[in-house]
Amino acid sequence: MVDLFEKLKMEAGALAKYSHLPDDYFFFPKLEGEIAPRMKFNGKQVLNWSLNNYLGLANHPEVRKVDGEAAAQYGMGAPMGARMMSGNSVNHLEFERQLAEFVQKEDAMLLNYGYQGVVSIIDAMVDRKDVIVYDAESHACIIDGVRLHMGKRFVFPHNNMENLEKQLVRATKIANETGGGILVITEGVFGMSGDMGNLKGICELKKKFNFRLFVDDAHGFGTMGKTGAGAGEEQGVQDQIDLYFSTFAKSMASIGAFVAGDKKILKYLRYSVRSQIFAKSLPMPLVIGGMKRLELLRTQPELKENLWKITRAMQSGLKERGFYLGSTQSPVTPVLFKGGVGEAANMAMDLRENYGIFCSVVIYPVVPKDVIMFRIIPTAVHTLADVEETLTAFSALKHKLDEGFYRTEALVSVTKGA
Ligand SMILES: Cc1ncc(COP(=O)(O)O)c(C=O)c1O
Repeated sequence: MVDLFEKLKMEAGALAKYSHLPDDYFFFPKLEGEIAPRMKFNGKQVLNWSLNNYLGLANHPEVRKVDGEAAAQYGMGAPMGARMMSGNSVNHLEFERQLAEFVQKEDAMLLNYGYQGVVSIIDAMVDRKDVIVYDAESHACIIDGVRLHMGKRFVFPHNNMENLEKQLVRATKIANETGGGILVITEGVFGMSGDMGNLKGICELKKKFNFRLFVDDAHGFGTMGKTGAGAGEEQGVQDQIDLYFSTFAKSMASIGAFVAGDKKILKYLRYSVRSQIFAKSLPMPLVIGGMKRLELLRTQPELKENLWKITRAMQSGLKERGFYLGSTQSPVTPVLFKGGVGEAANMAMDLRENYGIFCSVVIYPVVPKDVIMFRIIPTAVHTLADVEETLTAFSALKHKLDEGFYRTEALVSVTKGA
């Protein structure tokens, strides 16, 4: 037997080996100032490409005004209690109506957080007789929801339709034996690689198999589709998504989330999603502020157009300079290099300290051991000059990486005193 705390200290997780680095440089960095392309990091102004503030709504003057007024009028406490008990309001109901309409579904339900919402929706949708089939690169909230499932689950390699079909054959066999149903889960836009879930391909399989489709469109909502209704709209299959989910943490630049679908299923979910039944309702300022964001998203298409203008300039500029961006189809722009973790840290530091550019760097175990991924998130409030500055910096970085400049430990050690 061991003391639990001693064990945890020894096995602090895959990222623990980096914990000797300063807590606020590579991990838990503090970006200061108003949410904008230029923010302060480590005492200096940086050009920031690391926020999912896709449409630039976080600091939009109308949003800030409504957020402030709603907080002044209601405080963060109202309404008190869970929706089911004492935490319902006309604003919550109205926001749900507007969200459902926007994503072309009959009904919608607010969730306090996306992560918890997804876990709990999956939990509510299936019992031990049912079978889940899900994409291997799904977000942690899907994986954790699946972990709660007591019945069979099958995973298909990312976007591999041939394999999905095989898993559906297996799932159908089991569901026929148990008398259960099948839930297929994927994402609209995958937040690391930026490619879309093959929703069209999955929906095509509905002709051969009997299943329901749940799509987490956290990164597609507001960024994809003609109206911004997401990856389903983009691929022309929005009506075939049985349950549509998005968080407010990205395009909406807020907190909260929602799920939308048929009225009867939404009614079922209102009485079954435990993360909502047993939690206080979403605070009123977030609901009122959410409606303002949705209004801007609906009525100011130039926000999405700008986002895509910046995205296209960034992605084509990087490709022209020989960078490899994987298979992105969305504003999420991964820039992939070959190199180890030490080189990744040195590159990120050089980029921040000497080029004044801040973007997230993703390392093993999120990507394979010899891959370095810089993840650039363009937004509607960046400019073409920001893009140019970044392209120049990335070209310099690539040159230095190829020359072996980042193999030295010297740079990282400087940050230890930072
Ligand atoms: C694909 C995906 N689903 C769900 C979530 C969780 O949403 P929230 O931040 O609202 O908990 C995120 C991240 O925010 C995400 O990227």
